[in-house]
Amino acid sequence: MANYFNGQYPSVEDLRSRARKRIPRFAFEYLDGGCNEDVNLHKNTAELREVELIPHYLRDFWGSSTKTSLFGVEYDAPVGVAPVGLQGLMWPKAPEILARAAVEHNLPFCLSTVTTSSIETIGEITEGRAWFQLYHPTEDSLRDDILRRCRESGYQTLIILCDVPTFGYRPRDIRNGLAMPPKMTLSNMMQILGRPNWALRTLLHGQPTFKTLTPYIPKGLDMAQLGKFMDQTFSGRLNAEKIKPIRDQWKGKLVLKGVANESDAAEAIRLGLDGIIVSNHGGRQLDAGESSIKPLTRIAKKYGEEIVVMQDSGLRSGPDIARSIASGAKFTWMGRSFMYGTAALGDRGGDHTMTMLKKQLQQVMEQLCCERVEDLPKHLVEKTAH
Ligand SMILES: Cc1cc2nc3c(=O)[nH]c(=O)nc-3n(C[C@H](O)[C@H](O)[C@H](O)COP(=O)(O)O)c2cc1C
Repeated sequence: MANYFNGQYPSVEDLRSRARKRIPRFAFEYLDGGCNEDVNLHKNTAELREVELIPHYLRDFWGSSTKTSLFGVEYDAPVGVAPVGLQGLMWPKAPEILARAAVEHNLPFCLSTVTTSSIETIGEITEGRAWFQLYHPTEDSLRDDILRRCRESGYQTLIILCDVPTFGYRPRDIRNGLAMPPKMTLSNMMQILGRPNWALRTLLHGQPTFKTLTPYIPKGLDMAQLGKFMDQTFSGRLNAEKIKPIRDQWKGKLVLKGVANESDAAEAIRLGLDGIIVSNHGGRQLDAGESSIKPLTRIAKKYGEEIVVMQDSGLRSGPDIARSIASGAKFTWMGRSFMYGTAALGDRGGDHTMTMLKKQLQQVMEQLCCERVEDLPKHLVEKTAH
């Protein structure tokens, strides 16, 4: 089924609008929102879009390829499915849908520790080609058990996260009393009744649960309890002492996500990591922070030869992928875009969104007269501002 494309939804914004109409408000707002006043959420896309590219119309041109290699694996395009928590709350079976689509489109899929499918299920769907994002457990035994499960399911790449030292302050989720599974308050029931397709599918597939954590987590936690559980069970505040034993025991590629400044990038290199994702969690953690394109540009310039530098946060289109790569990223990731697609189009949402993004990137590269992804930086309009 790869390469499904529905012409009614040719942009991420179209998918977002449809998603809003298809899923309960508490689920949409969890997906869509940033934190505090949403300043960085909007800056991420707006400032990325200040990046400009130069076309070369009269050059010899032999066609463009969006293929690119990352850690020795050739992917069809320089974009992957970023780890997203609670996916099944937004659309039933979302992680499985996206993992399947990623395999068909030859793109990487990263499973979050706190999503609704297990390490083993996604390992099977992706034939061991998935990535795993680890929230750092406070107990070494839990960390080692999760890593053992990843190894046994064939995962090659592990992401550790440094940008969640605290739980983000998200007014909508607080107001909605967001919970897993959803609390049956009157307001939530009204929202669910207004979304019969979501309700029916949720009924068919069962309440979403934290499948990877099932062996370790008490049942029926609401968001406040989950926050407490996460605080006790996981320590997002990462440092060298916590990274070293992971580096020692994880023989696959190790990537640090959430890097937002040069000194953390330097530390990642010193600790022997293979890659970093410059990211601000899609503007969900520090509203007063920089948009991610700014540190990306600086870090790629300074350390791009020493470590694989990637980016996420704010990307919503093929041109956005091109802007990021032209600014120095070797690879990009998207969180919300794929989830909007899945919430909008269900089983075909991942396929559609991937087809669309590839189509858009292909068009940009052909327009620029850029044959290889690696050549995109040659089209960048250099600015001193970033
Ligand atoms: C609803 C939602 C849940 C997320 N959950 C996680 C998570 O569990 N682990 C993680 O590393 N990042 C998580 N992220 C951050 C994404 O991996 C990624 O950094 C971010 O979505 C990129 O920004 P974008 O949505 O603008 O593409 C989440 C993002 C969203 C939108």
